[in-house]
Amino acid sequence: MNTFDPGFLWGAATSSYQIEGASAEDGREPSIWDVFAAQPGNVRDGDTGDVACDHYHRYRDDVALMAELGLRAYRFSVAWPRVQPRGSGAVNQRGLDFYRRLVDELLSRRIEPWPTLYHWDLPQPLEDAGGWAARDTALRFADYAAAVHDALADRVTNWTTLNEPWCSAFLGYATGEHAPGRREPAAAIRAVHHLLLGHGMAASAMSGSRVGITLNPTQVSPATGSAEDLDAARRIDGVANRIFLDPLFRAAYPADVVEDLTEVTGFEHVRDGDLKVIAAPLDFLGVNYYTPAIVSGDGPAHPPAKPSPYVGAETVRFVDGGRPRTTMGWEVDESGLSDLLVRLARDYPVTALYVTENGAAYDDEAHDADRIAYLDGHLRACHDAVAKGVPLRGYFAWSLLDNFEWAYGYSQRFGLVHVDFATQRRTPKDSARWYAEVIRRGGL
Ligand code: FCB
Repeated sequence: MNTFDPGFLWGAATSSYQIEGASAEDGREPSIWDVFAAQPGNVRDGDTGDVACDHYHRYRDDVALMAELGLRAYRFSVAWPRVQPRGSGAVNQRGLDFYRRLVDELLSRRIEPWPTLYHWDLPQPLEDAGGWAARDTALRFADYAAAVHDALADRVTNWTTLNEPWCSAFLGYATGEHAPGRREPAAAIRAVHHLLLGHGMAASAMSGSRVGITLNPTQVSPATGSAEDLDAARRIDGVANRIFLDPLFRAAYPADVVEDLTEVTGFEHVRDGDLKVIAAPLDFLGVNYYTPAIVSGDGPAHPPAKPSPYVGAETVRFVDGGRPRTTMGWEVDESGLSDLLVRLARDYPVTALYVTENGAAYDDEAHDADRIAYLDGHLRACHDAVAKGVPLRGYFAWSLLDNFEWAYGYSQRFGLVHVDFATQRRTPKDSARWYAEVIRRGGL
């Protein structure tokens, strides 16, 4: 039996734009995702988050469902364009009230609320003013964070600033696969810095609470032991992982990454004192993990025409690991999760880690043995990491509900609970029942 500590936190996760719908209600105004999804060609089948899972209206039933599954914690995100529709200035009370109602409902069911302040829905007016490539967005984020914190700190203990800033910066500003859809590698590197700065400023505005950040570090290994492959792994690790982890935990950008990026930027956007703000102590680090990467340095000498998210490492080739894949095309390899957790705890002074997302997209509806196998394998990997001394304190399955999977629209189903998008009917899949049992027993 793989038993976890009795205090281990068991939860599930979602995010605002992916489930809430009600995109123009109670004063909410467009985010970059509303604008991006409305533009033909950006999201598969022209899907949008206008209705999504209609969670804005059905949150009470959804919380009841969480209680039925025995969840101890629920990770959700707060939509900035509901709370502060223009991205600055007056707070919209009706938007804030939604989160107050949600939090109260969770607390009444003894489910710990785990809000994330930014899961990619930037108010469009801030993008019009330069988005994350502009320094001012970091300051705006800190103001917004303080407003939400003031309203809810009496009932929320654990706060996460950002979800996966790698995606915000590189998919949003380098490849354009995500909103705002820009293809400007230099802007992506500025976005990295302003996201980190916004995190640090927000964290200091929320003192008195436990504050963390969620990253999606990539577990990278070289295809062979050749010098080229080792260098490819170093480069990807640099621009996927250390570009965030080193500022956060060591108050510095890694010298090799700065060098890899010399043709893109001279880092003039970094001002004195910024790194000190960014490196304020973290109470926890959230880790989202889906799949690892194997890389090779034998790629083309010149970057391919299609923009790569790995700015400065465009010629690195990603190698097929020969494992089964989910419908996202992501290889299933749970050993990457234990290796990643061990590495993070070894290389950085993390005091507490949480897996804030982990899960799999499969097409099956009620009987999802493949999702159960995925979750089972990855929870075993978590258990291995704990046995190796990693301070892993909790696990959130992605996702509670089938939902709007960004550029893939509704084509990818990650839910423990099936959602019929025509009727909004929720049906727990076998994996939901299985997970409820894991929680009840405290392990596998
Ligand atoms: C992560 C996102 C989350 C979801 C999963 C599948 O990158 O944080 O919103 O889309 O991937």
